[in-house]
Amino acid sequence: MINHSAKLPIGVFDSGVGGISVLAEIIKALPSEEFIYFADTLNSPYGVKPENAIRSLAIKAADFLSNLGIKSLVVACNTATSAAISELREMYNFPVIGMEPAIKPAVGLGLKGKILVMATPLTLKSKKFKELVYNYKHLSEIVPLPCAGLVEIIERCNTNGREIEEYLFNLFCPINKEKISTIVLGCTHYVLVKQEIIKAVGKSINVIDGNYGTARHLKSVLQNERLLNNVIDGSDTLMPIKANVRFYVSENEKEVIMTCKRLLQNEGINCEEKNLNYVNTQ
Ligand code: DGL
Repeated sequence: MINHSAKLPIGVFDSGVGGISVLAEIIKALPSEEFIYFADTLNSPYGVKPENAIRSLAIKAADFLSNLGIKSLVVACNTATSAAISELREMYNFPVIGMEPAIKPAVGLGLKGKILVMATPLTLKSKKFKELVYNYKHLSEIVPLPCAGLVEIIERCNTNGREIEEYLFNLFCPINKEKISTIVLGCTHYVLVKQEIIKAVGKSINVIDGNYGTARHLKSVLQNERLLNNVIDGSDTLMPIKANVRFYVSENEKEVIMTCKRLLQNEGINCEEKNLNYVNTQ
């Protein structure tokens, strides 16, 4: 039986450009899908706001995408997932995929040494994170590392620059790096500065994120729900991929959309010029 919803786009949102790191993995896994990406830059950063405020921003963003007509929603933000994933799953009858710090795969590496989880203050304070740590703390020592201010710098400077270098240098300065085996990037923005993080740590270290896992999970959920717009499988895709993405941004649209497109290009993904939109979600 044909599922007509399969032709609809997949909605993806984040507070800003961080979710592009997730979108890139999703496009690679599902190159024949259409996407709508919403960057809520007007309300960025989410991670230093109270949980209630983030929950209502996440609901607004999700409602905006849902009203455009989507077959699935990806909350490409650990912070919004921590604050609102249960509510979002109750609100919609399409699959809602969230993100959480990739502690499970980090523990799965079975390495000796601490697992450092870099994330926003809200993510690390959340009940969801505490439950996640509780499930794995008998296997590894898990150390939260809140990074207030890093999302703002990445939004301002993108992926390189002195400010990022200085921030990371000061962050890692008091930490005994020899005791760390793995760093988990529990915020989708941090994936964009993975190389800078490795440089700041100054030793060979595993740095992992949940983006690939999220893309695989989305693919299997869509498959099970018969919602795949399947023609091409990601594994056979030739680079560069021509992606069908409509961008919406709540503030500073031209600059942000240019950045989103450049970040996708860095991953071998090209987007069409026409799909640039501004939205007022207030
Ligand atoms: N990319 C978001 C996350 O994964 C950043 C949240 C923020 O705006 O602080 O948590």
